[in-house]
Amino acid sequence: MKFQSPKGVSEYFPPRSHAFEFVRDQLLAPIKNAGYQLLELPIFEDTELFTRGVGESTDVVSKEMYTFEDRGGRSITLRPEGTVGALRSVIEHGLDRAGLPVKVFYCGSFFRAERPQAGRYRQFYSVGIEAIGSDDPALDAEVIALAYEGFYGIGLRKFRLEVTSLGDAQSRKAHRVDLVAYINSLNLDEATKARAQINPLRLFDDKRPDVAAMMAKAPRLLDYLSTESADHFAKVQEYLSAMGIAFTINPLMVRGLDYYTGTTFEFVHEDLGAQSGIGGGGRYDGLMESIGGQNISGIGFGLGIDRALLAAEAEGVVSSTDFAPTLYLIPLGQSAKAVAMKLAHELRDRDISVEVAMGDKALKNAMKSADKSGALFSLVLGESELESGNVELKEMSTGVATSVTLSALVPTLITRTLKK
Ligand code: HAM
Repeated sequence: MKFQSPKGVSEYFPPRSHAFEFVRDQLLAPIKNAGYQLLELPIFEDTELFTRGVGESTDVVSKEMYTFEDRGGRSITLRPEGTVGALRSVIEHGLDRAGLPVKVFYCGSFFRAERPQAGRYRQFYSVGIEAIGSDDPALDAEVIALAYEGFYGIGLRKFRLEVTSLGDAQSRKAHRVDLVAYINSLNLDEATKARAQINPLRLFDDKRPDVAAMMAKAPRLLDYLSTESADHFAKVQEYLSAMGIAFTINPLMVRGLDYYTGTTFEFVHEDLGAQSGIGGGGRYDGLMESIGGQNISGIGFGLGIDRALLAAEAEGVVSSTDFAPTLYLIPLGQSAKAVAMKLAHELRDRDISVEVAMGDKALKNAMKSADKSGALFSLVLGESELESGNVELKEMSTGVATSVTLSALVPTLITRTLKK
């Protein structure tokens, strides 16, 4: 019996997993520098949290959730996104009672039963942040900037930032009246009309050419912003410009989740084809309250690690190379092995990476493994070395060996690797 991974999941193994790790860590670095703190959350939650929080008109909730009954008869769903789970945790543990804004980040796997294709997986990886409890437009700009810095830190250059504002309740109410009237005047099928009833904005995201053509002429929310919303959006733009972050305004942007209000944004990469969204997010005014929290706003983003990695590979800014130790240690014989194990332990404690040849290979085979490992140095430890206390430290790139006393090995490796 030969097993395979389930259909449509992304999976990272060496050497590519090193590039994955690099991309993830680069996305996390600016977030940690800005004072966001880790939330480590369950990957499954009560189904109702998502139906309420993410919205029933979305594909994510209506078609893509992995939902099952657990052994206690509860309806459980594998998290399709991170925001509502993060907010649930903030509310449950009262993090929003200890000073606002609450600034948290999370990182891990998410699940959507989508049709798999390049860059679209059923289990994917994402880095997210949420900043909860401040309406300051500078916070919007900070959140956007942190995503930008993360992508930039990976080395990505061929991406653009699109922003828009979905306004406050007053703006959306005024727009909705005209939008619904416009949609009612169109000749649409029943299913589309039903979708529009739950959230008319969703029709802007309809990919069918005839619907898209009709929606191109529909009233746009950006033209209905209240003075407050327009001011807020103008300030966000001012701060982004002050930080030197280029953006375009996309009044037709529709996010795949229903909770967005106000500032909304997406990062799009040029080289990724259909699945070009490498990250996105925005404000959510009523979301905290809708899942049982205080009536405070928040803003956050989700960045796709899988897609950022594909983008980095397309731009040629990451390479997938295997782990290469500083030292490859070859013990010959039983007493040498114990000394080698002790030595490796000591060196690793000093932050020097070491691999020890396992399985009592003959010297020739062990040297081949040393070559393959990509190590900077190799060292053979046999009976004679143990007796004399002298070892030959071989530099793998040149083949030059230097005689070193065992006791001087640690400081020698430290100085020689520092020079590299
Ligand atoms: P999202 O745009 O649905 O936002 O997902 C965030 C990112 O995850 C996307 O930009 C994309 O790069 C990646 N992604 C989404 N679905 C897939 C998939 N099937 N395969 C591979 N990558 C995927 C959210 O999830 C919001 N929670 C973001 C947020 C946080 N908004 C406010 N706070």
